[in-house]
Amino acid sequence: MESLRIYTEKPYRLRGQVVISGAKNAVLPALAASLLTSGEINLSNVPLVKDVRTMLTLLSDLGAEYELGKKSLRIKVEKILSYQAPYQLVRAMRASILVLGPLLARKGRAVVALPGGCAIGTRPVDLHINGLQKLGASIKIEHGYIVAEAKKLRGAEFEFEKKTVTGTENLVMAATLARGETILKNCALEPEVSSLCELLVKMGAKIDGIGEETIRIKGVDELGPADFRIIPDRIEAGTFMVAAALTQGDLILKEVEPDHLGALIDKLTISGARIEKLGRRSIRVIGSPEIKPQDVTTAPYPGFPTDMQAQFMVLMTQANGTSIITETIFDRRFAHANELIRLGANIEIQGDKAIVRGRTPLSGAEVMATDLRASACLVLAGLIATGQTTINDIEHLDRGYERIEEKLRKLGVKIERLKNNNNHRMGEKK
Ligand code: EPZ
Repeated sequence: MESLRIYTEKPYRLRGQVVISGAKNAVLPALAASLLTSGEINLSNVPLVKDVRTMLTLLSDLGAEYELGKKSLRIKVEKILSYQAPYQLVRAMRASILVLGPLLARKGRAVVALPGGCAIGTRPVDLHINGLQKLGASIKIEHGYIVAEAKKLRGAEFEFEKKTVTGTENLVMAATLARGETILKNCALEPEVSSLCELLVKMGAKIDGIGEETIRIKGVDELGPADFRIIPDRIEAGTFMVAAALTQGDLILKEVEPDHLGALIDKLTISGARIEKLGRRSIRVIGSPEIKPQDVTTAPYPGFPTDMQAQFMVLMTQANGTSIITETIFDRRFAHANELIRLGANIEIQGDKAIVRGRTPLSGAEVMATDLRASACLVLAGLIATGQTTINDIEHLDRGYERIEEKLRKLGVKIERLKNNNNHRMGEKK
């Protein structure tokens, strides 16, 4: 078990510049797309996070060869050697479901473990399955596995009952090699979906309606090689923007895509932070001593992202007044609230709402990370909690943040990573 320890004699005021990495949720579908072609895919601006390594392990089991550079990745699936995505990999990373569509499209067969639930809720894949069945796949669930077959997928019209990011990505990828035209309705609008479509077009796919709710894909016989740059991680950017607002800091974020940050810029501006766009790919966030409360409801893009809900909750604990945070995407995404309460926050959970009563000074303690964004929220809390904060089980954090402690250290934060830190297990029943 690894931990992060933050020493906070007095609350930090983050100042300086931070370079945002490529988006985890854009590189994962891009890697899955490499299954669709025997050509080489060259990706740049790749974040070296744990989920990328997990996906590469899965893809090499399926027949991929790859070369991982400092921030680049060359991957080629000359031949698909296996079509099984085993449970222990899928359990470790739900995004493994993204191999289902490409395997069916290229190989006509896929056996992928059901992802099961995780810390933020039940994580069904019924919409992925219904969509692929509409494209002609025969799918059955056996012993916790999705067993899918399709001699040749055929184009069809399919409407998603609800917006699903990886569901849309799976169906678009499958449709690129189907016979005829596929029309997908009520598609997710996240930038990561559009970015995947742009990669597929570079590989030779015929896709219209990129970035819209209806996407049309005309199947082609095969896809080819492509070079592609991974878009900036809007959630990592959001996390550092909140850090600046929280610490009355003055932070310049580089390598961001401001157009992907609209909902967050709006909410942080309402809370009192000042945000300036400094040219094409850089923004400046200046925190205010007075943080205003506000209600926030998570929603599919371009609404307020669920992946920023935990981070924003920390900010609202420092607001002068009461804020209501409503989580509409996942059914159990408030685990971080209990840990924040241990640091001194005043939060009451009522169903899908968290009532946050600020302003409550936070004091350092030992806390537990439960999922990726909850871990990020605890790091943010540690920046303002006086005394020492130790965040245990930061394997979750490493899944989606590249060297976060190095980036924070460069901004003046006294933070260190403790390897095999078992002192929090003291007193555990032997
Ligand atoms: C993607 O997950 C992201 N992961 C998540 O980021 C993100 O929180 C989520 O989208 C929402 O924005 C990746 O892109 C790898 P969904 P995904 O399918 O695709 C329901 C992070 O922290 N649903 O858009 O799994 C589902 O239960 C992670 O980086 C069905 O009912 O999410 C949820 O309520 C966490 N049936 C809603 O749709 C389905 O078949 C949205 O889920 C699929 C989804």
